[in-house]
Amino acid sequence: MCGIVGYLGRKAAQPILIEALKRLEYRGYDSAGIATLSDGVIKIKKEQGKISKLEEILDAPSNDEKLGIAHTRWATHGKPNQLNAHPHSDWTGKIAVVHNGIIENHATLKTWLSSKAVDFVSETDTEVIANLIGYFYSEVNSGKDHTQAPPDQNKFEWSVQRALAELHGTYGLAILCADFPKMLIGAKKGSPLILGVGEGEYILASDAAAIVEHTQKAIYLSNNEMVTITPDGFNTKTIDNVAVSKELHQIEFSLEQIEIGGFAHYMLKEIFEQPEALKTCMGGRIDRQNNRIKLGGLASYLRELTRTKHLILTACGTAFHASLVGEFLFEHLARIPTETEYASEFRYRNPIIEDQTVVISISQSGETADTLAAAEYAKERGATVLGIVNVVGSSIARTTDAGIYLHAGPEIGVASTKAFTAQLAVLTMLAIELGRRKNISDTEAGRLIEELSAIPEKISRILKQSEHIKEIASANIKKNNWLFLGRGFNYPVALEGALKLKEISYIHAEGLPAAEMKHGPIALISNGTPAVFIATLGPQYDKILGNISEVRARGGKIIVVATEGDESIKQYADHLITIPEAPEMLQPMLTVLPLQILAYHAAVLRGKDVDKPRNLAKSVTVE
Ligand code: F6R
Repeated sequence: MCGIVGYLGRKAAQPILIEALKRLEYRGYDSAGIATLSDGVIKIKKEQGKISKLEEILDAPSNDEKLGIAHTRWATHGKPNQLNAHPHSDWTGKIAVVHNGIIENHATLKTWLSSKAVDFVSETDTEVIANLIGYFYSEVNSGKDHTQAPPDQNKFEWSVQRALAELHGTYGLAILCADFPKMLIGAKKGSPLILGVGEGEYILASDAAAIVEHTQKAIYLSNNEMVTITPDGFNTKTIDNVAVSKELHQIEFSLEQIEIGGFAHYMLKEIFEQPEALKTCMGGRIDRQNNRIKLGGLASYLRELTRTKHLILTACGTAFHASLVGEFLFEHLARIPTETEYASEFRYRNPIIEDQTVVISISQSGETADTLAAAEYAKERGATVLGIVNVVGSSIARTTDAGIYLHAGPEIGVASTKAFTAQLAVLTMLAIELGRRKNISDTEAGRLIEELSAIPEKISRILKQSEHIKEIASANIKKNNWLFLGRGFNYPVALEGALKLKEISYIHAEGLPAAEMKHGPIALISNGTPAVFIATLGPQYDKILGNISEVRARGGKIIVVATEGDESIKQYADHLITIPEAPEMLQPMLTVLPLQILAYHAAVLRGKDVDKPRNLAKSVTVE
């Protein structure tokens, strides 16, 4: 949520910042802005709307401007207009700031600063940061502040530290000062911030996608840390001025992986990447010869997991739906009592966390504020907290005691697709391994491992139906209310199908356990209401046929996701999509594919911006 970037190097900053912003645009796209610094002057340009709008108002790049910051916004405080767009400068024009996060005490600070005759022009919390730094900077320069900067510290850095000490809330920040034309400062608390370290250049950004074009070497700042960058190098310290040394990491993915390639949208690319993503996710973890799953990251926690009597899975959105499938897997295969909790609700309801409670946080980005806060809460209360995360080095990955990376590759499309199937693959692998240790035979584990290995190829077969699914979307595109229905392991998939359709096509959709229909929602069915049933072969097949009949009898348009070769389902379906046969507990990795593809085509047919759905952003770093 909100992308920030800063550049200091030998090249003209503006084109580099704009290119980096485009790579971060999936984090927010309400408005965008840039500030460059040369000859002691900060030049700010900002515009409402997407980055293309900002580009229209930019001057030609200047080689004199080798330092700058930029921002793409997902609005929290203040409307998404030009005035509220970042960068924000202080009232003197000496300081410029871009910010990702929320300052909770901004109103108090604003009142205090206003009493000191500091002027504000926007409604944002970020302008408070700029003015606060500006206030301390002018105080120390005029010799008024009695807490003078230490002699060996420059006044810009000192003012930043003084300001940060007053802030409550979260921030990833990149800051410029007009009097320091060769200095860029970054600071982090609760929002991600990475420094890319190139040859004679530095890129500070809220995620690695903005960095890989220039360098694959990076340091990940931790909470309450800051970095001061000059052409001679950088130094890292805590925000209260204690030096910290940081390790240089290798960014795991390449530029090619974040390019759109020949696809019309990132979402489509990521849907089609699923066979490969799952192969990478499972490769090296599945030992088919010995019927074993190897989960290196969790090796020393497997015993604790097999013994726990209380496993909690916490997540949001799509990852929450994956967790629901996980709950069914852990209970079914390993007989571990498991609950799935919305991360946003978990810590506000005084949950029971006992000695042997294990919490697993599931997140693609590893930055979702609610999921991170739930993990921290569980940890504080003594639970062992494990992570299933895609983004290496992300906040959740670093907060948890141990974990498993998805290795699904970067996910740029705002609607999560390949991360979902990779989350399911990881949860399945973990459940099989725990099951083998506790409850199921080696033969049964071996059979499931064999079936799991076959999933990527089965996904490839489903992808071939994309055009057919597009026709189904087209036939129903005028309908404004859809239902998604499933039972057992496919009930969470129905929830996920409805979420996908809503978030990118803005069509109202509800996902439900199919049998719940008759307890109320069936009243929604009228002539032609599209009802998507997941009616694959499995223990509840006959039951769901009954549910289909009930909807059909009331005029619903029946779209069925069924098993290949199931002839008898045809008489129930207005439209049929098939998936290859698989054990019920592995089916979600297949049945979700038609629903992702359906949502994608529906959104395109309705002319929506699939990768940048309105009001949304990838990686929800605010609560
Ligand atoms: C939906 C979607 C969101 C995310 C949710 C959690 O397509 O992408 O619902 O799943 O915001 O995000 P992560 O997994 O990054 O914690």
